[in-house]
Amino acid sequence: EYKQQQQIEESLRIVNEFAAKYFEDILHNDEEGQLIGGAYFQERGFRNNIIEQFRLGYCLDKWDAFITEALAKGHTQELLEKAGLIKVRDGRAYDNYKGRVIFPIFSNTGRILGFGARILKKSEHAPKYVNSPENELYVKNKVLYGLYQSRQSIGKLDECYLVEGYTDVISLHQGGVTNVVSSSGTSLTEGQLKLISNLTKNLTILYDGDAAGIKAAMRGLDMALSESFNVKLVLLPDGEDPDSFVQKKGADAFNKFIEENKQDVIRFRLGLGLKEIGNDPVKKSHLVNEIAETISKINKTEDFSIQADYIKESARQLDIDESGLINLVNKFIR
Ligand code: GTP
Ligand code: MN
Ligand code: MN
Ligand code: MN
Ligand code: MN
Repeated sequence: EYKQQQQIEESLRIVNEFAAKYFEDILHNDEEGQLIGGAYFQERGFRNNIIEQFRLGYCLDKWDAFITEALAKGHTQELLEKAGLIKVRDGRAYDNYKGRVIFPIFSNTGRILGFGARILKKSEHAPKYVNSPENELYVKNKVLYGLYQSRQSIGKLDECYLVEGYTDVISLHQGGVTNVVSSSGTSLTEGQLKLISNLTKNLTILYDGDAAGIKAAMRGLDMALSESFNVKLVLLPDGEDPDSFVQKKGADAFNKFIEENKQDVIRFRLGLGLKEIGNDPVKKSHLVNEIAETISKINKTEDFSIQADYIKESARQLDIDESGLINLVNKFIR
């Protein structure tokens, strides 16, 4: 059974590698690939070396261009379907990434686990990104996009930036910010945090300043605290993500923005919370509870002094009694 699992994984690696090469080849050498896919990346400011490093590609806007080539090279329809490279409907198979640009997702050793595929023009009928399905090889909650390209730098700098999207990772790399990974739109999982914690305990979450981004940041934050990370947060200016920011303003401005806007967890929660509660005592007691719970999660084992500082600061800002807050925090620790 174990051996069979190994065999399926390996055949998925092989078919993924074949597909990645095919999509790269189309992007670089095919006329439609250059005119549509190449032009798209150029417009987004992706230069050739970064396109090559991340092995970006393009899937022709035809129903069966890829599948025809893959079958001709001896890959089975069953495997192509399992890999999510094709779909079958009413007995007919078609290319799943038709007319999309391709972002391969790498393992720690540079093998390809799956793909993200982006539509070129906004559409109401089709999702912006189509991603590989989970299979024996691609287990989403154990993969972080960009980790393969970033792991060395994360270790060396002893800090990891967490961003929302594929293009954020790529544009930051192009700008020279190379300690960055993405959870690719899903909320952060314990398994993903384990991958980071092998390299560093310092995590900086860089999410969009919109409601969805804040919500996602909150979830990631709780999880990271429980795994005893030292977490900082940066909310980007409204309407910007790391990709758009660094493409517009450059890496120096980006780094400066991060340094000036890094918040620790408690300041972040307090800042959002205090804005929200106004004079409502019910909301206030709710916030006090939330803050206490967050403090209770901070580095339970290692750093009591940090916890004490947070309690002091929070009590002051919330205008409540410090010893009351300590009691509340202790209730959450248990
Ligand atoms: P660009 O618009 O190309 O710059 O991508 P983005 O990364 O900025 O997209 P966005 O901020 O909307 O989403 C963040 C991440 O969520 C993406 O990189 C994807 O991984 C994921 N995502 C976004 N839209 C979809 C979707 O329609 N389907 C799925 N499955 N994932 C998505
Ligand atoms: Mn957003
Ligand atoms: Mn979005
Ligand atoms: Mn984005
Ligand atoms: Mn974007």
